Amino acid sequence: MADGVGARARNAHSDLGALAGGVAVITGGASGIGFGLAERAIAGGLSPVLADIEGAAIVEAEARLADAASAAGVEVFGHPVDVSSEAEVLGLEAAVAERFPDRPVSLLCCNAGVGGGGPILRARDIDWDFVLGVNVKGVANCVRAFVPKMLERGAPGSVVATSSQDGLCAAQGVYGVSKHACVALCEALFQELGGRLTVHVLCPNVVATNIITSERNRPERFGGPRRPAEGRANPVAERFKAFGMPPSRCAELVFDAIRTGTFYIMAESEDDPGYVRLEAETRMKAILEDGLPYRPRSEFIAKVFDFRSPPPSRGKS
Ligand SMILES: NC(=O)c1ccc[n+]([C@@H]2O[C@H](COP(=O)([O-])OP(=O)(O)OC[C@H]3O[C@@H](n4cnc5c(N)ncnc54)[C@H](O)[C@@H]3O)[C@@H](O)[C@H]2O)c1
Repeated sequence: MADGVGARARNAHSDLGALAGGVAVITGGASGIGFGLAERAIAGGLSPVLADIEGAAIVEAEARLADAASAAGVEVFGHPVDVSSEAEVLGLEAAVAERFPDRPVSLLCCNAGVGGGGPILRARDIDWDFVLGVNVKGVANCVRAFVPKMLERGAPGSVVATSSQDGLCAAQGVYGVSKHACVALCEALFQELGGRLTVHVLCPNVVATNIITSERNRPERFGGPRRPAEGRANPVAERFKAFGMPPSRCAELVFDAIRTGTFYIMAESEDDPGYVRLEAETRMKAILEDGLPYRPRSEFIAKVFDFRSPPPSRGKS
């Protein structure tokens, strides 16, 4: 059976120790989910490469990880990259190979991503280029740069891409299109690899990160960065931080998935249990029963995206 236990074992490293001693290349590793993956990689004996567009955040993240890395006997390597640029990603691959000649890349996390793009009817050409450039081509660029080298080396390895709950539900807006494409890319890659590396796609509900201010990282060729006006609160950004799940939870689920062979990693928020699964079921039911696309309502998501109320003043209360 295609989805039976035997087949699933092909997508697992039941002993995570098989990856220890290797390098974990993590795009978007300087912040949010990527930083959580770097922390978890260190705990698993992997040397994380923080491959990120935000130079200052890389330096800060390297400093925050230094003690844990030296205790684990691994190295942290920060390297600036714009994943939407094929040339920069090839440069990243060369820099990683030079820095770690004796260690295989055992884990590739194509995690860098940006929110936004807007609704289909309002998005401009440059918005499509920005969001698809980072969220889809960025993943493809990294897969093309690293996976053939990982296969050549022949060490056990895994590829993880960060999609979203938006990649499993009835798609909405340019972001939803990009995250569906990310899921599709991983499905295709899994089949092409035939078990030579394991493949997993992370699909989280709301995570406490900086995703809402993604425009800070908009490359010049896509219109350049946009920053919120000085002193002006962004209530949704603050709600993500207050109500989102900790990035460390996503990282834990990713490593569990690598161990158990789970392909679709539905990272449910404890404040919205089962919602990602419900979204996927709702979409599949519409497909199978000749229904229409629709996204089930979540009180939790409505609370996070409530533009009218002021930002929360403290924690999750
Ligand atoms: N936060 C959430 O609620 C949530 C939910 C579902 C999926 N995601 C996905 O998680 C991934 C990580 O985002 P996050 O939530 O940790 O946000 P974040 O903004 O905290 O982290 C994203 C990181 O990616 C980097 N980055 C952005 N553009 C880049 C580029 N062109 N090249 C290289 N690095 C780049 C940023 O500098 C940042 O460090 C994204 O793919 C996002 O779509 C987030």
